[in-house]
Amino acid sequence: MSEGTIAAVVLAAGRGTRMKSERAKVLHPVCGAALGAYPVRAARAAGADPIWVVVGHDGEHVQEALAAEGVGFVRQEQQLGTGHALLCAEKDLRDFRGSLLLLCGDTPLLRPETLTALAERQRTEHAAVTVLTMRRADPAGYGRIVRNKDELLAIVEEKDASESERRITEVNTGIYVFEAPWVFEMLHHLDNANAQGEYYLTDVVRLAREQGAVVRALELADPDEALGVNNRAQLAEAAKVMQGRINYAHQLAGVTILDPASTYIEASVRIGVDTVIHPGVHLWGKTEIGPSCLIEPGTVIRDSRLAGHVHVKAYSVIEESEVGVNSVIGPMAHMRPGSILRGDNKIGNFVETKKVDIGLHSKASHLTYLGDAEIGADVNIGCGTITCNYDGVNKYKTIIEDEVFVGSDTQFVAPVRVGRNSLVGAGSTIVRDVPPDALAISRAEQKNVEGWRLRHPLKKKEK
Ligand code: UD1
Ligand code: CA
Repeated sequence: MSEGTIAAVVLAAGRGTRMKSERAKVLHPVCGAALGAYPVRAARAAGADPIWVVVGHDGEHVQEALAAEGVGFVRQEQQLGTGHALLCAEKDLRDFRGSLLLLCGDTPLLRPETLTALAERQRTEHAAVTVLTMRRADPAGYGRIVRNKDELLAIVEEKDASESERRITEVNTGIYVFEAPWVFEMLHHLDNANAQGEYYLTDVVRLAREQGAVVRALELADPDEALGVNNRAQLAEAAKVMQGRINYAHQLAGVTILDPASTYIEASVRIGVDTVIHPGVHLWGKTEIGPSCLIEPGTVIRDSRLAGHVHVKAYSVIEESEVGVNSVIGPMAHMRPGSILRGDNKIGNFVETKKVDIGLHSKASHLTYLGDAEIGADVNIGCGTITCNYDGVNKYKTIIEDEVFVGSDTQFVAPVRVGRNSLVGAGSTIVRDVPPDALAISRAEQKNVEGWRLRHPLKKKEK
């Protein structure tokens, strides 16, 4: 293999007891992706290939959650310590020669540039180990970095540290680059004679020094990058930093976000230039928003595609749907899965759609349910229209052809087809197909009974 080759191992076998969760820690989501996916992506962006993830607790679910990340999995049946965890990957990396990057699955904020700098340091210094360190005002819980000036002497775990060692504020981030296959040789020499009875990966530093190998440390400029998520408070903290990065990237790419602190955009979302996003908006999953859209407060959009110049008014919900150019949605509209708007449409307040294909320029402006329907172009759906698509057993389709005008308070009892350019009178219940160019009306004729109210006065309530 060529010089500069990087492989990565991500440790994710621990249970994460402090999360107080039924699920493994690395499965908890941060901005729409599993916690454990972030270090994997950072390693890949830094050029690591292959990447192996060490799984143990809840391993099957972890594998499932990371299946799309293009990594291999190594099982660590018993969690005997970080050194033992890396040793589990030995057989898979037997033929690998180069820099082995080691990350923990619970450190989502690491930047690829940091990993690249760490690998670069390893290379230029011909080091056997390069440790990423950081300064912490409160170093509690971390392994302490014991130095003699520039020389890294050892990493001492808190539980094994002397009083003076505990006062050291430079700590181990748990991220390293090792020379492979040398490191595996070292791992075979680890013992577990320490306070926790574990095989510590950190002891590789001591073994390297005993061999006279080169050991280096690189201090992280921004210690937030190495924030390890151990409990739900840190999960929220990490999500907040990550959300800030996502929003900032959109802002630099030409999206106006009025209040980034209250705007939740998942990592997978794409947004076009000149789109304006109001506070309290949530954009989730594989959502794509075109250029020059306006997304008003409180809107939630999941796994949907909006073309350009779409205006979504306040408190609308759009799921697994497509919205064509120049359309106006809401306020308070609900587009459920399978709704397609071809363009120039209006879906107004309290309109619910589901599995419906609506042609160009068609409108449903108020208080309507359109489900399992095909609606043509230039159709006007009056207020209070309902497709009665379900008889309790099966779903049926309503087809409304081009240029139909549907009066208010109409029910379509599906299956039913309304022919092109026909008109449905307000208050109708349509149970049979309507031919093109027709008027369909089905309400009972109105009867006025003169003087009826005079003969039936309201009784005064007795006290
Ligand atoms: C470790 C370091 C410590 C460092 C800290 C940074 C050791 C001995 N100590 O301590 O110096 O300051 O990280 O966060 O390495 N894991 C396994 N299998 C195991 C044990 C752990 O996969 O048998 C995984 C965990 O899931 C986790 C990572 O390794 O992702 C770190 O393990 P953890 O027990 O949290 O180590 P720390 O005590 O935090
Ligand atoms: Ca930890």
